[in-house]
Amino acid sequence: MVTGAGQGIGHAIALALAERGARVIATDLKPPHETARKIGLTATSLQLDVTQEADWRSAYVKSLEVGEVDIVVNNAGYFPNRLIEELDLPTWRRTMATNLDSHFLSAKYFLPAMRKKKWGRFVGISSNMVGLAIPGMSHYIASKMGIIGFMRGLANDVANDGITANAVLPGLINTLATAPQSDEQKRATWEQQAIKRMGEPEDVSGAILFLTSDDAAGQAIVVDGGQYRIG
Ligand SMILES: NC(=O)c1ccc[n+]([C@@H]2O[C@H](COP(=O)([O-])OP(=O)(O)OC[C@H]3O[C@@H](n4cnc5c(N)ncnc54)[C@H](O)[C@@H]3O)[C@@H](O)[C@H]2O)c1
Repeated sequence: MVTGAGQGIGHAIALALAERGARVIATDLKPPHETARKIGLTATSLQLDVTQEADWRSAYVKSLEVGEVDIVVNNAGYFPNRLIEELDLPTWRRTMATNLDSHFLSAKYFLPAMRKKKWGRFVGISSNMVGLAIPGMSHYIASKMGIIGFMRGLANDVANDGITANAVLPGLINTLATAPQSDEQKRATWEQQAIKRMGEPEDVSGAILFLTSDDAAGQAIVVDGGQYRIG
């Protein structure tokens, strides 16, 4: 199951998982029919607003028609830029609900079947912004740090049942969400990277394929062309 699979990074992840042989349930605010159509008969599209527990419950019930979900990639995200003076509580709460509540709710509904099967994979899409000095993103950075923290905690609780919980931290990726940035703004970011170009959604899906495979134990993987500096 991939959330926010209607476009951008989530769309690329859904296609990559399908190519590896997974039956994919692509979800988004509206059922992402186009993503499912591209994959073909093995894909299903479902409406799932990740901020709503009722939607997770109904997605869980509908998913049983396909089979038990053993991989959840929480990709849907909300990331408006607001300087702290402009940030209001509804925006803060929507950021937390979209970027963080979703991870907890997915575990609540999809963990029990994984435990029975003794195999499962949770991957959260965080952001390399947790390590960068970008103004106007305090709410977003808090939520994306929260994903790393939740995955660490979840991993501790589920490891004995063959389940892993990890995070991927993309850098600036070429999607509709980043399209409004000027070429100058984008260049200012990718010039800080070792790889001098903007990231593409397909650059992120490789890390997802690894973390959802039998090979992966656990990690928060930065996929940003070498922009992030440790320390
Ligand atoms: N694009 C980047 O540069 C970048 C960098 C780092 C991290 N990320 C993260 O990657 C993820 C995807 O980013 P993107 O650039 O592909 O974004 P995008 O805006 O292109 O796509 C996000 C998708 O999530 C869906 N969505 C939004 N709110 C939702 C909700 N409440 N319930 C269900 N679906 C919802 C949208 O409908 C959309 O289809 C986000 O979590 C984002 O924070 C993106």
